[in-house]
Amino acid sequence: MSLTSEQVVLLRSSWQTIGKLGMSNVGLAVLHRLFNDVPETLPFFHSVLSPTQQTEIEVLKSNAKVVRHASRVGLSIDKIINLLDNGEELVKYLLFLGKVHVKRSIPRKYFSAMGPVLLSVISAVLEKDLDAPVMQAWATAYGVIEKGIIDGM
Ligand code: HEM
Repeated sequence: MSLTSEQVVLLRSSWQTIGKLGMSNVGLAVLHRLFNDVPETLPFFHSVLSPTQQTEIEVLKSNAKVVRHASRVGLSIDKIINLLDNGEELVKYLLFLGKVHVKRSIPRKYFSAMGPVLLSVISAVLEKDLDAPVMQAWATAYGVIEKGIIDGM
């Protein structure tokens, strides 16, 4: 684990701020950004989105399956943040996430694409530049998350 204890504190307090938006809203913002910045990811969500479906946030919000999936993604980040100082359980959970995505045939490269997506949503919510210490902590944390998930693939 390459996060310092100060970074863990920053991550947890900033996640509390982000969490005030509600887990499904956080997840929706992430998915919305992912679909717009990396549209090749859209077809993987065929079980929750029809192929012709628009990716405007309002359309995503009105789709109950998308909202349910968005809360799962939000809750998953919540779980990771809670496990940051429990290396063994964190590794297990990230391996599990890797396997979940292998079952859905998601290529590893999209986990690299997810980094900038997640960071831009978080920096917008926190109103912090990417070079702020809190954002550097998120960038490091995503590196840990990405590696852990990819190890499970
Ligand atoms: C940090 C990154 C990510 C996290 C934490 C995450 C988390 C999750 C979670 C918790 C689930 C639900 C698993 C279940 O209960 O069955 C899920 C499902 C899924 N994820 Fe991810 N995910 C991430 C990245 C991605 C990326 C980059 C893609 C696509 C390119 C993706 C595509 C999917 C798909 C297609 C499903 C199944 C949706 C459904 O049919 O309901 N995920 N993800």
